[in-house]
Amino acid sequence: MKILAIDTSCDDTCVAVLSNDQILSNVISSQTNLHSKWGGVVPNIAARAHLELINPVYQTALKRAHLTIDEIDYIAVTQGLGLSPCLGVGIDFAKKIAISHHKKLIAVNHIEGHILANFLKNKNNQPKRDIIFPALALTVSGGHTQLILVHNIGKYEIIGQTLDDAAGEALDKAAKLMGLGYPGGPIIETLAKTGDKNFLKLPLPLKEKKNFNFSFSGLKTSFYYQIKEWGEEKIIKNINDLSTSFQSAVFISLTSKFKYAALQYQPKTLLASGGVLANLALRSQLRSLSKELNIPIFMPFKKELNTDNAAMIGIVAYYKAKRGEFVKDVPLFDRCPRLSL
Ligand code: KG4
Ligand code: ZN
Repeated sequence: MKILAIDTSCDDTCVAVLSNDQILSNVISSQTNLHSKWGGVVPNIAARAHLELINPVYQTALKRAHLTIDEIDYIAVTQGLGLSPCLGVGIDFAKKIAISHHKKLIAVNHIEGHILANFLKNKNNQPKRDIIFPALALTVSGGHTQLILVHNIGKYEIIGQTLDDAAGEALDKAAKLMGLGYPGGPIIETLAKTGDKNFLKLPLPLKEKKNFNFSFSGLKTSFYYQIKEWGEEKIIKNINDLSTSFQSAVFISLTSKFKYAALQYQPKTLLASGGVLANLALRSQLRSLSKELNIPIFMPFKKELNTDNAAMIGIVAYYKAKRGEFVKDVPLFDRCPRLSL
């Protein structure tokens, strides 16, 4: 089965081609430079850029897969979650190809994409992973932070989520407060390599609460009040310690709730994905947790499969196609920015 998948949910224009669960091509055109001066993604600017980029990215994805559109069986596209004007560009493009080339269309939930990114393989059918259900998935990105019980592929139960900011959003906001660029997560990761995590005393929100929810806005506010009187010079002088303190507080919150949920639900496998999982410190903390709990953990096998990409949309579509789940009325099909799992 050959699938062409599209994701334009945020600020990356992404098209991938899969053969079953194997990635033949995965093209990502990032708009980071466009948005960095605003300190975040501006939806209408992002949508305009998607409109310009979608066709060349689509052509490149087919070329790298050494396939023509006639050899593709299904078109997949993200229906939601995402920014409404951005989702619209990918959906219009997917509908146009599906209709003009007589292909079935598959609607994909972006969060399911992040979860199933763990099931992707390369052209050589690697890595082989024995993912046993029920699995407990942690998805952490700029738009969402959730703990999801995966009973099976396609069968999910959200057991916890952020009550305010997503973890990636918190890192991006802290970076902005320190005068750093966008997206802040990777910049903070680099600066946090050498700092002291106890430099600032930051709250660990909801840590004592017996539930699986997260909250990051209090953490960000405390960070803000502690440095708001500081001048630029003092911030720069302490930038490594500030970054380490903030990143460490965010990651303690993520790992402690993940651990608590694993102890309660006793899953057979742990899964973790989403943009923030590109962070090597977090990956290593989650590996230690997996050893401590004696439950295997899987994370996407390549950095680019953590942040937004269309291969993860393609793998969801592969399983949906096997179940016969196609869009019934393609001309009427539309985005759903707040789509739930
Ligand atoms: O999954 P993603 O690409 O887009 C959304 O669906 O939101 O995630 C983007 C988020 C941003 O908040 C970014 O700062 C964060 O992931 N991120 C990182 C790293 N790379 C990206 N956070 C921490 N460390 C990184 N290396
Ligand atoms: Zn995402």
